[in-house]
Amino acid sequence: MTEPRTVWWEDGRVRMIDQTRLPAVEVILQFGTVDEVAEAIESMRVRGAPAIGVTAALGLALAAQAAASKPAAAFRAHLAAAAERLRRTRPTAVNLFWSIDRLLLLAEAEPDPARAAARLIAEAQAMVEEDVQINRAMGRHGAALLPERGGVLTHCNTGSLATVGYGTALGVVRAAVASGKTLHVYVDETRPRLQGMKLTAWELLRDGIPATVITDNMAGWVMRQGRVQAVIVGADRIAANGDTANKIGTYSVAVLARAHQIPFYVAAPLSTIDYSLADGDSIPIEERAAEEITHVGGQQLAPEGVTVYNPAFDVTPASLITAIITERGVAQPPSPASLARLIND
Ligand code: MRU
Repeated sequence: MTEPRTVWWEDGRVRMIDQTRLPAVEVILQFGTVDEVAEAIESMRVRGAPAIGVTAALGLALAAQAAASKPAAAFRAHLAAAAERLRRTRPTAVNLFWSIDRLLLLAEAEPDPARAAARLIAEAQAMVEEDVQINRAMGRHGAALLPERGGVLTHCNTGSLATVGYGTALGVVRAAVASGKTLHVYVDETRPRLQGMKLTAWELLRDGIPATVITDNMAGWVMRQGRVQAVIVGADRIAANGDTANKIGTYSVAVLARAHQIPFYVAAPLSTIDYSLADGDSIPIEERAAEEITHVGGQQLAPEGVTVYNPAFDVTPASLITAIITERGVAQPPSPASLARLIND
């Protein structure tokens, strides 16, 4: 392994950094069953659309490994049940479904269970490395869009931890800094799970990239003060017209960016674009437990019995997005035609 990974395959097991323990401690988990992997996705020990996709592929590889010596029908049934379990974990990030389908297609093409299992394990491992290459390509395409110097605001965590390594939106920031640009990153803390404050700030500190954490409700004022020259975020699912589902709060940031005439960029791999959906209205939005809102650090702060609404994502209309950066190039402005060109050219 050349650089640290968020999730990987080692000795027939899935290993990952436990993101729920960061930044306090770096704990490496290892799993041997698909149920353990599914639980890790649900409880957000691993999170971020590309990381979830690769983790699901590795989970399916575990299931294939466990059933490799079964008769063909039993092998297929085992794989189908494992895929179903993984599909139920988190509904919004389309990368999850994309990577499960990619492995199932391979399995269908190989009738012998042992050979199919070997192919699935190899493919899942290839997806680990492929993810980093995709992110680096995105960085190369996106770096030019960021200013030579100035403030860049980001939301949630889109770095190494949201992927296998390097990151999507944060990968673009990394590439821009590596190319000599002088950037200061404003990191939205990202209520309620605080991925910005806990994870993005941790990554940027380790990289030595100047960063300042703000609470989500400060973004407008920080823009008004002229501290932000660009916004860049990731995505969990992008519809064919460019409407983009991302961490709750992204839409508010996009509206603020438009009000202050600041460019608003989305960076995501092609596996995050769901060409089957015409627009963002039909993107499924995950709702998570009320405790994520009512409790802070394990302590209940809200009155007992209060009603809570906790959508984990929102949808930013394409009209508020300046450009979508992918590993195949930039869709600017995002539209059905500019996004279709990325896969057709
Ligand atoms: O709930 P999470 O932490 O999985 O949400 C993550 C995000 O919303 C990211 O911005 C998105 O997955 C893109 S990450 C490369």
